[in-house]
Amino acid sequence: MNAFEAEGLVKRFGTTTALAGIDLAARQGTVLSVLGPNGAGKTTAVRILATLLRADAGRATVAGLDVVRQAARVRRMIGLTGQYASIDEDLTGRENLVLIGRLLDLRGAEAKLRAAELLAGFGLEEAADRKAKTYSGGMRRRLDLAASLVGRPDVIFLDEPTTGLDPAKREDVWGIVRGLVQDGVTVLLTTQYLEEADALADDVSVIDHGRVIAQGSPAELKRIVGGQTVVVRPADPRRLAEAEAVLARVSGRHPERPGRGVVSVAVDGDRAFTEIVATLAAAGIAATELSLHLPSLDEVFFTLTGKEAAA
Ligand SMILES: Nc1ncnc2c1ncn2[C@@H]1O[C@H](COP(=O)(O)OP(=O)(O)O)[C@@H](O)[C@H]1O
Ligand SMILES: [Mg+2]
Repeated sequence: MNAFEAEGLVKRFGTTTALAGIDLAARQGTVLSVLGPNGAGKTTAVRILATLLRADAGRATVAGLDVVRQAARVRRMIGLTGQYASIDEDLTGRENLVLIGRLLDLRGAEAKLRAAELLAGFGLEEAADRKAKTYSGGMRRRLDLAASLVGRPDVIFLDEPTTGLDPAKREDVWGIVRGLVQDGVTVLLTTQYLEEADALADDVSVIDHGRVIAQGSPAELKRIVGGQTVVVRPADPRRLAEAEAVLARVSGRHPERPGRGVVSVAVDGDRAFTEIVATLAAAGIAATELSLHLPSLDEVFFTLTGKEAAA
């Protein structure tokens, strides 16, 4: 059984069609990433699945329970974090988590224990007794995540959990998501970053203007846009042809010269990059630039729709 699924969801706000009939599904214990630009309909879809908003048409279930007719039972199974999180700025991190535990009917001692567990798990022990309004963006995000986990949900909805975070903080959140999945939790994660979907998702649904425009594993999506690119700039420009030969041999493709002293080639995965690095090193070819570029969300969109992604 799918941990959650949505079929034909339609939602209009006045004359805006936020969702034009989308289908989403995730198997238990997997991460489904809903990838799309601002205004694509991500939050609307999450809010419908989380019982906070009613669709105009279509149906959705969580653990086989209908999100409209069995909303109360659905709420007991899910955790939600994102643009409407429930943190009280004037309470400490610990007080916030204990309060949520009490709201979820935990006894006082249990609520305290669960709060302590989560604070430790999310690296918030030191900040536990400071007011949430003093937290940095990354700490705040971790507290949001902790808050959504107090009730040990089976399914968790993370709505753009890393938007606006710097790369190191983003990786902290990724680590937390991976830990959840290891514990058997099913995650719906919305994001604007292909890189994030790539790092975390088993399956990706790309949405734009309230429609699913592509669906598949990260590898399948990357194949649509032509994979990753390795770029090499040899320290000694006279060794460019040798570097080019290495790229050709490892990738099995014809490299390009996108600029002076630079050679690049499309590859199918990170392993090719590792092999290129090792082969260049073995050949004694030093590089001043050596990088692996993922296709950006813009490129995915461009390839899928023939137009630039909405800003
Ligand atoms: N409560 C609302 N009232 C009016 N329009 C809304 C409301 N919520 C969302 N929308 C509109 O619906 C579309 C999808 O929004 P949203 O689901 O928030 O997209 P995303 O989360 O992908 O950025 C946007 O055009 C947005 O302006
Ligand atoms: Mg949103």
